[in-house]
Amino acid sequence: MCGIFAYAGTENAVPLLIEGLRSVEYRGYDSAGISVIDGSGAIQTVKRGDHKSSLSNLAEAVSDRRVSGTVGIGHTRWATHGEVNHTNSHPHSSSNGLVSIAHNGIIENFLELKDELVDSGVEFRSDTDSEVLAHLVGRAVESGSSLRDAVVAAASRVKGNTAVVAVSANEPEIVVGLRVGNAGGIVVGKNDDSAVMASDTIALLPYTSEVIYLEPGEVVEIEQGKVRLFDLDGSPISREPIVTAQNFEAAQKGNYPHFMAKEIAEQPDAVQSAMRGRVDIASGTLSLPELSLEREHFGSIDRVILTGMGTSLHAAMFGASVIESLARIPSIAENSSELRYRNPVIGPSTLVVAVTQSGETADTLAAMEHARSAGAPQAVVLELEGSQATRIADFTLPIRAGQEIGVASTKTMIASMTTLLQLAVVLAEGRGVVGSVQVEKIVEAIAELPSLVATTLGLNGQVSKLATRLSEFEDLLYLGRGAQLPIALEGALKMKELAYIHAEGYPAGEMKHGVNALLGPEMATVVSAPKNDLYEKMLSNISEVKARGGEVAVIATEGDEIVGRVADHVILVPDCPELLQPFVTLVPMQILAYETALALGRDPDKPRNLAKTVTVE
Ligand code: M6R
Repeated sequence: MCGIFAYAGTENAVPLLIEGLRSVEYRGYDSAGISVIDGSGAIQTVKRGDHKSSLSNLAEAVSDRRVSGTVGIGHTRWATHGEVNHTNSHPHSSSNGLVSIAHNGIIENFLELKDELVDSGVEFRSDTDSEVLAHLVGRAVESGSSLRDAVVAAASRVKGNTAVVAVSANEPEIVVGLRVGNAGGIVVGKNDDSAVMASDTIALLPYTSEVIYLEPGEVVEIEQGKVRLFDLDGSPISREPIVTAQNFEAAQKGNYPHFMAKEIAEQPDAVQSAMRGRVDIASGTLSLPELSLEREHFGSIDRVILTGMGTSLHAAMFGASVIESLARIPSIAENSSELRYRNPVIGPSTLVVAVTQSGETADTLAAMEHARSAGAPQAVVLELEGSQATRIADFTLPIRAGQEIGVASTKTMIASMTTLLQLAVVLAEGRGVVGSVQVEKIVEAIAELPSLVATTLGLNGQVSKLATRLSEFEDLLYLGRGAQLPIALEGALKMKELAYIHAEGYPAGEMKHGVNALLGPEMATVVSAPKNDLYEKMLSNISEVKARGGEVAVIATEGDEIVGRVADHVILVPDCPELLQPFVTLVPMQILAYETALALGRDPDKPRNLAKTVTVE
């Protein structure tokens, strides 16, 4: 939530800040702005609060090169306090003009701090919480503090998680960054001519692949070719950079019209990549080298709690169902924002598995911290290595899908599911619930996953026709049972976030308990009903919807000749073992939402009111 980029070097920072912001724009696109220190030592700020057009409008506004300087900060915003407009855009300057800051996080006591500042004569220009930081830092600098001390002092007054970058006219060569708690990461890097700082590693890659991640409670100064790290008491910290495996090209759109289209198309590779080094097809074995739990420890696990938010929660639900069915361990998936506050019974025999592609989601991190303090062994299933979640968990299970830029998660869900399926097999084998012959059979099935997923991509044309029809509805219902329930929930979530159509996901068995009252010609129903033990039950649900005048689209298994007699639209996915069905039904759900969004003229990469990384609760 919100993207930060800062540069200190020898070149004109303005175009570099714009490029850096392009890399982090997916984190928030309500506004965009930069501050640079110009040749006379004064801070120049240009910003635009024009929703999705903010960054392109900002780029145009600075293209005449009237603003320039070799040190600067930039920000893309996801609004929390104050509407989307020019004045609420970051960076924010102190009223004495000495300081400019860009902030990520929520200042929980901002009203109290604002009242105090107003009482002492400060005039606020924006409705944001962040502006208090600008004034606090500005005042400290005016009274003689260094920029670093001023930022640390200001942050100590603030309640809540904070990531902030600041420049000062008094120290025109440096940028200071600070991180307290989990309001999004800060990563720094340098080369001979410059030093850079950003919310996301990807923005640093044009400069260096050697990066340092700030821990909570750390502050950094960057200056041309230099990075200096300190704790909040001012003691220097020495930390070697790590070489990141992320690659800049992977995060480009290429020839695809949208990142989402590219990321949907990358799913066979994402699945393959999640299996690399884990599934050995030749020997029929499967391992998760990153899960270095002793074998005897497997037997002592009496419960698995999986947690995450949004799409990652749906992947976690799939994980719970497959872990319970294969490894026979009671497993549940729970929304992290609930888990973190309900004081759950978690202990050393509970295995906690967090699912978070970014590794930065505020609620998920808080739930993970709770689990850590309860002494539970903990694994995290994630894409972005180096993120905060890896530092909380005991075991990191990378999904290796490649960075996802589209706000709507697609390839990271399928790669998380692949990783969780492998975790289920490893737990099952480790506990002696399945033997090597069964594992061999499962491996044989899993080996087909990439090509099964690739086949479902070929359904695009059929799904697109269905999307045209569904785009005419204002309300949609999604139904599933068993391992198809998370897929139905995900289908509904995708449709809401991309097409802005009201879509409810429900367990099909719940229909008669209230939901049936909604049925009628005004609402279409999308059903995930591949051939499995619950298929007949789903057929009955489909008939019940039809009997009440509802239009029904069903995702069914190739060769199913019955469903077409009851449903209005049928999308046939490849026949495969039941264990793999959620993978092949997921893909048409994603394409359906994408195509419906296009049919309605929405931008699938930048849905309204959303951001890719949710670093505030
Ligand atoms: O980074 P995370 O996986 O922790 O993000 C959790 C959710 O915000 C995320 O899955 C969100 O629901 C999707 N981007 C929606 O498509």
